[in-house]
Parts: sequence; structure tokens; C-alpha cells
Amino acid sequence: MKDAKIIRLTVNGREREVGALPNETLLESLRGLGYFEVKSGCEKGDCGACAVLLDGEAVDSCLLLTWTVEGASITTVSGLGSVDEPHPLHKAFIDRGAAQCGYCTPGLIIAAKSMFDNDTREPSEDDMRLALSGNLCRCTGYTKVFDAIDEAARIMRERG
Ligand code: FES
Ligand code: FES
Repeated sequence: MKDAKIIRLTVNGREREVGALPNETLLESLRGLGYFEVKSGCEKGDCGACAVLLDGEAVDSCLLLTWTVEGASITTVSGLGSVDEPHPLHKAFIDRGAAQCGYCTPGLIIAAKSMFDNDTREPSEDDMRLALSGNLCRCTGYTKVFDAIDEAARIMRERG
């Protein structure tokens, strides 16, 4: 495509190339590569549905142009575990009924993972509210989401 530039990324541990236009967002590129678990919501940084880990930090992929993240390592919610070996967050969200329509769930799990990675292993409700402050869920009322994150944190602490 005219004006597209080949950008190299590592997505969930796999090297990928995408022909990205100058105004193409990381959200558009990831979905174009088939990572449909990265959800498209507001596309302006308000809802968190598009969140991924970028070199370990949670970001809204709709706010980044793909060419600016050349060479980055991206982790989507699917990269945190698998069906056979789910991440404790995956399992806890299912066990605690923390997903209803599920549209926000990938972003919520990425935000919670980022909170754990930033050394909050025993989160208070305030910690969770802060960590999820960029993620909108219109279904759950958040109570079961907090229950799930609390459960996942406990499992991860037990694993050490
Ligand atoms: S789609 Fe990116 S924050 Fe809403
Ligand atoms: S479960 Fe529907 S928006 Fe969160």
C-alpha cells in the first residue's frame, strides 16, 4: 500500500511485520494482524478496551501510532496464558463471574496484570480502583471484577 512502512513488532512472543500507514494506530495494526482480543471501543483513550502491555507497561493501543513502536514487545490478554495454562487472572475472572458481555475484559485483565507487575501483589480496593481507573465496564458494577483480581492476587502470592 502506498505510504505504508514495514514495522516489526513482537506480539505475544512471536515476531510479526505489519505494513502500517503513517496514521495507523497500534490498535488497527494488531486487529489487522488478527489479534481480535484487543477490543476497539472509544478509539480516543477513554475506555481501556484496547489496552495491551507495551514493553511491560499497560497502554491504550488506540492512542499510539504503529510506526512509533517499531521493535516493541506487545502482550495482549491472550499472551498471558493459554486455554490449558490460563493465567490466574483469566481463571479468576471466569470463576468469579467477572465478565458479562466481556468486551472490557481484555483491558481489565491487562490493567490488573500491570498493577501486579508494578509490585502491588496484595492490592487494596483503592489500589484496584486506581489501576482500573482507565477502564470502563458498563455491565458488572466492578464488584466481581475486584473479587476476581483479589482472588488472582492471592493465588499468585501462594505460588510465590
Ligand atoms: S478504544 Fe482505546 S481507550 Fe477506548
Ligand atoms: S462485562 Fe460488559 S462492559 Fe464489562
